[in-house]
Amino acid sequence: MNDTAQKITVEKAQTSKIDQVDFDNLSFGSVFTDHMLVCDYKNGAWETPKIIPYQPITLEPSSKIFHYGQSIFEGMKAYKDAAGDTWLFRPFDNHKRFNISAKRMSIPEIPEEYFIEGLKTLLRLEKDWIPQSEGSSLYIRPFMFASGKGFHASPADEYKFMICLAPSGAYFSGKVKVLIEQTYSRSANGGVGYAKAGGNYAGQFYPTQLAVKKGYNQVIWTDDNTHEYIEEAGAMNIFVRIKDTLITGPTSDRILDGITRKSIIEIAKDEGIPVEVRKITVTEVVDAAKNGSLKEMFGAGTAAVVSPIAAFGYNDTDYDLPELPNSYARRMKERIIDIQYNKAEDIFGWRH
Ligand code: COI
Repeated sequence: MNDTAQKITVEKAQTSKIDQVDFDNLSFGSVFTDHMLVCDYKNGAWETPKIIPYQPITLEPSSKIFHYGQSIFEGMKAYKDAAGDTWLFRPFDNHKRFNISAKRMSIPEIPEEYFIEGLKTLLRLEKDWIPQSEGSSLYIRPFMFASGKGFHASPADEYKFMICLAPSGAYFSGKVKVLIEQTYSRSANGGVGYAKAGGNYAGQFYPTQLAVKKGYNQVIWTDDNTHEYIEEAGAMNIFVRIKDTLITGPTSDRILDGITRKSIIEIAKDEGIPVEVRKITVTEVVDAAKNGSLKEMFGAGTAAVVSPIAAFGYNDTDYDLPELPNSYARRMKERIIDIQYNKAEDIFGWRH
């Protein structure tokens, strides 16, 4: 145990809720473990993190999170292998991206040891909550927001960094049908699309609800300027397979640097799959669907891992993507999951 881990205080819950949880029927992110981590930023410095029983928190109505949305989050998972050991997947990448998001939203960066050691201390306490069944894991939600008060539209002087844990099953159930968005945008050049800012997700709800009313599950985001380029799939990065080539858009101001996305790029290269990181036009995807060279589309993210797209809609026409027996989506998902659950050798050094 290092210095930071030793300083973290732990107040244990008097009773555990674990017996009330049906681990065989977990939904996504709706039950929470007995404890959470809280760390306050006051007087220009982060205080030592503490672990306390999971409970509501009290905030002033004038806290800037409520008015100006200064808030960011991360999505991670803890996996339990057959021997009962616990693993994280590229956690230092999450910490780095958290601080990239923090900087963009004028939130003070959190030191690596508070994030990593805080998380490990919490996980040690909650290890019985990590599901061992296939397809389930402990979803980890680190988040950070402006707790400081005042209506002045400027960065707050106080913040909270917290981590909550939720034993979770699959993010999506069933096939995903998506609509290529032609009116609304998720992000813009010079904006905050690359940050995991809470408002990026809130801004997606309305266009997604409109798509749901039309019979779709999610929208495919296109660029804000021309709506000619495919950028993300719902809250995930997107991959398109035309013939045998796997294509994903380059990260930018507008596209999140997804950890699953960059892992898939490396795995695909390792498997000898031709990979292109380049802009993808809506026209080429629609043309490829029409001439049969569009083989697959799938979303990639921590929560859903790999989410195959069964059909997409564009200009009032739906295009089906029949499931392939040896799909890239399945291959990528299996390779990642095998590394995450310690079922395969980790040639990339991602497991922690
Ligand atoms: C994740 O995949 O972990 C995300 O952050 C997306 C979230 C909206 C569930």
